[in-house]
Amino acid sequence: MVQSGRATRGIEQAPGFTLPAGAPIDGRQMWAANRFWMENQNLVTKRYGGKRKQYWYAMLFMMKAFEWGLRRCGQYERGVRNAEDIVVREVELRFARLPAAFDGFTILHISDPHLDGMPGLEERVVERLAGRTFDVCALTGDYRTELHGPIRAVMKSLARLVEGIATRSGFVGVLGNHDDCHMVAPMEAMGIRMLINERIVFERGDDRLQIIGTDDVHYYYTDQSLHALEAAREAFSVALVHSPELFDVASDSGVELYLCGHTHAGQVCLPFGVPLVRHVRIGQEYFRGQWQHGEMKGITSAGVGTSGIPVRFNTRGELLAITLRRAAA
Ligand SMILES: [Fe+2]
Repeated sequence: MVQSGRATRGIEQAPGFTLPAGAPIDGRQMWAANRFWMENQNLVTKRYGGKRKQYWYAMLFMMKAFEWGLRRCGQYERGVRNAEDIVVREVELRFARLPAAFDGFTILHISDPHLDGMPGLEERVVERLAGRTFDVCALTGDYRTELHGPIRAVMKSLARLVEGIATRSGFVGVLGNHDDCHMVAPMEAMGIRMLINERIVFERGDDRLQIIGTDDVHYYYTDQSLHALEAAREAFSVALVHSPELFDVASDSGVELYLCGHTHAGQVCLPFGVPLVRHVRIGQEYFRGQWQHGEMKGITSAGVGTSGIPVRFNTRGELLAITLRRAAA
């Protein structure tokens, strides 16, 4: 049913490091060593420079001060109720190049659950999706809020989420900037095919659809994410990237649909959805909702969870039930 391939192009030999003749280069091992080092050094790499992790801690401090203010004026519980009021949003997208066999292919897109931030969120999600079956469930990162520390409790909640969602062809996932490279193994053990600058190809007869996933590029950008997208023209391609920040590269590479999250649609917005913060430096125009860049369609999910404090104002947590349709020629 499904073939998969690991994108190993772009992995270069470090200066002074010599591989034994004929030794296979395991892209995952090299990625993990680099990611682990960056996580532990609190390093951030972005395509065009940008804020370091200290920015997150400053944001967190401001959010905690905001929480204190909300409690003082009696609005905190209202914000929590808003955050818990998640919606399943139906989205139908038409593509001229969608292979006929994939007309009607369904993707459940879940982003940013931050499962340590809203206890019981996994049960609420499972309840909302009861009785439904999707072809595939795509997870676009930020399974926790903490940037460091134990992952066991979050993985347990995620396992419950996976167990409670029905799919015909399983789960695929990428990491977000709040995630830890050590999550990959337990997530794969629970049946999620992690796409770390890799792709998975679905075949129906002679027709093919592939999902390409990159590592997070908000904190952990490497050229490997760009090389993974180079394969986009080999089949009808859906890209999973944690944030919208690769929109231009993906569009130039021939991706048809770009699914991401990270921004929470602002999470706490002024009336009429005016955001206080967009949480991205590039691709700000694509920080929420459906969008189009060149010939590529994109969706930036508002996320299902919350980050920092478990409240929302003037935004709504969402699960996206996406149906791909073949446009009439
Ligand atoms: Fe994020």
